[in-house]
Amino acid sequence: MSIPIWSSDEFDSPVSPHIEPAYFDKDLDAWVLSRYEDVLAAFRSSALNIESKRPRTAEEDEGMNRMRAEAREALSPAQLREWSEVIVPLIEARLQALPQGRAVDLLDSYLRPNCLDLAALVTEIDPQDAMRLQALARPVSAATAEPYDPVLRAESKSVMPQLEVCFHGKAESLRESGFVALSHTLPCMLANACHALLQSPRQWMLLHREPGLAEQAVEELMRYAGLSRFLGRQAVDDLILGGASIRKGDRLILRIIAANHDPARFTDPNELDIHRRGAGHLTFGAGLHACVGANLLRMASVAMIRPLVATFSSAVLAEPITWQGGSRFQFPVHLPVMLRKDVVSST
Ligand code: HEM
Repeated sequence: MSIPIWSSDEFDSPVSPHIEPAYFDKDLDAWVLSRYEDVLAAFRSSALNIESKRPRTAEEDEGMNRMRAEAREALSPAQLREWSEVIVPLIEARLQALPQGRAVDLLDSYLRPNCLDLAALVTEIDPQDAMRLQALARPVSAATAEPYDPVLRAESKSVMPQLEVCFHGKAESLRESGFVALSHTLPCMLANACHALLQSPRQWMLLHREPGLAEQAVEELMRYAGLSRFLGRQAVDDLILGGASIRKGDRLILRIIAANHDPARFTDPNELDIHRRGAGHLTFGAGLHACVGANLLRMASVAMIRPLVATFSSAVLAEPITWQGGSRFQFPVHLPVMLRKDVVSST
C-alpha cells in the first residue's frame, strides 16, 4: 500500500482540502472518506473497527473497555481542575520570561516545556526524569507522525520496553502512551494552533481583547488546525456508507482534516473564526474509540493559549516555518515569533 498523502490537507496548502464522495483507491487499497457526514458515520458504525492484522478476541475487547473506564475515572473533572491549579503558575512563570522585541521560539521556550511539566505531573514520574524520558520517547512520536515508515516503526518498537518500565500510574492510558502524547504530540498540536493564530492576526487580537473566549477558540483551533490528517478503519461486517458498498475486511481511510473543513458542515470552513459555536470537530475522533484524553487536552490547551494571547496583543512570525513529521501529522520545526504587549499611553 502506498502512503496516503493529500497535499490539500497540508497546513500551508494554498488550496482548501478537496472533499468528495466515498471512493475506493486502488493504490491505497482502501476506501477514502472525506465528507464530514461520512467520516462521522464511520466513527459511529459498529460494522467498523480500528484496523488489526487478526480479529480481536473477546478478552481484548474487554481489556479496551476496562482501559476506557479506568481512563474516564482517572481524568475526572475534579482531577483536571487539580492538575490545572498546579500547571497554571508554572505556565505563568514561563510566560513572564518570554522576551519582547526579539525573536523567541514559542515551541521550545513555552509549549514544549509546559507540556513536559504536565506530562510528568499526569504520569506521576519524577520531574528530574522528564527530559530524559522525553528524549527516549522521540522515536515513538516520530513513528506516530509517519506510521508507514518501517525504520521508524522498528525504532519505536525498540524503545518501548525501556519506556514501559518507567511508568507505574494506576490508569494504563496515563503511563508511557500518555507521556508520549502529552510530551510530544500535544506541543505539536499546540504549535499548529499557534501557527494558525499567527496567520490570522485579527483573530489573535480579538482573543487578546476577550480572553474569556479561550475555550471556544481552542475548539475552533482544533477544528481549523487539528493534528491527524487521517485515521484507519476496517470493516468487520458488510455495510453501506456514504453510498459506497463496503465489504467485510475492506479497509477505510478517514480524512479528518478534510472532514473538519467540509463546507456542508461548517460555514466558511477555511476561515479561522474564534466566535464559531458548536463546531463539533472530529480532531479527537468520535464514537466508541474517541480520544479518552480529549478533556485533558482541552484543559491544557486553554491553560497555555489563554495567558499567551491575554498577555501579548500581537505576535508575528520572525522567520518562515519549516515543517516536519510525516503523512499522519506535521508540525513546525521551530515557531520563531516576535511578541508585543500593548503600549500603554502615559497621558
Ligand atoms: C495532542 C494529543 C492527542 C491527539 C491529537 C489525540 C487524538 C486521538 C484520536 C483522533 C483518537 C481516535 C483514534 C481512532 O478513532 O482511531 C484517539 C484515541 C485515543 N486517545 Fe488520544 N490524542 C491525543 C492525546 C491523548 C492523551 C494525552 C491520552 C491519554 C491521556 C490519549 C488517549 C487515547 C486513547 C486511550 C485512545 C483510544 C481510545 C479507544 O480506542 O477506545 N490521547 N486520540
